Amino acid sequence: MRQNIVVLTGAGISVESGLQTFRGEGGLWRHHRAEQLATPDAFDANPELVLEFYNERRRQLLSPAIQPNPAHLALARLESVCAEHLTLVTQNVDDLHERGGSQRVLHMHGELLRMRCDECGHGVEQHGDFFATDSCAQCDAIGRLRPDVVWFGEVPLHLPRIMAALEQCDVFIAIGTSGNVYPAAGFVDIARRAGARAIELNPEPTPQPNDFTEHRCGPAGELVPKLVAELIAATASAG
Ligand code: APR
Repeated sequence: MRQNIVVLTGAGISVESGLQTFRGEGGLWRHHRAEQLATPDAFDANPELVLEFYNERRRQLLSPAIQPNPAHLALARLESVCAEHLTLVTQNVDDLHERGGSQRVLHMHGELLRMRCDECGHGVEQHGDFFATDSCAQCDAIGRLRPDVVWFGEVPLHLPRIMAALEQCDVFIAIGTSGNVYPAAGFVDIARRAGARAIELNPEPTPQPNDFTEHRCGPAGELVPKLVAELIAATASAG
């Protein structure tokens, strides 16, 4: 019987690719925390500052130095073996899972390389810088386009699909997330209530040590390939 696996990734999986986490050192941007900038109020109050925050993160993500790491590549291998038995959920807005080969990624906090028009709902890929004076290609509105990411106080994406996967999963794996932000931080409880094995991969202990059945301490680039190899072997022996 094929196991249903849900993987949740956070900023930690992208650290070895060169992207900072939110709550570790380097998590500040011009003395601001993400929580102060990634909000509708911050955007209304100072759209130039918020757009520059995302322009700088977009420029960094697209620089040649930032590449998927072995953890991203391993999860793509897991997807090629498990197919619809794997649900990959990420809190990250970077595209490193996709560039690592994963084809079905649920970005519950949106995507850095996309913009959305609050006037007409038009969504568009965005690789260059974007400014408050730029207009929407669909409806020409100015100052209404925003990063297509989920800000604090907004509803994360794909929750019904994520909940359904958690309620029938056999293995839940949290990789590189501090467990500080809900609803993602509560996913382990739902999985455990479904009787799932819950594994946490993180170099540091997180607030919910007792919610996980197993904690593997170390960097994702080292631990994820090993765990994926175990899961693929178990899938092969399950036939
Ligand atoms: N491998 C694995 N995990 C790592 C590594 C690494 N090499 N380096 C650091 N970590 C861990 C840290 O120990 C920490 O627990 O990654 C986690 C990063 O935590 P956060 O910075 O809080 O990031 P995350 O959990 O993804 O934040 C969740 O909060 O700010 C919002 O929307 C934002 O999606 C983000 C959400």
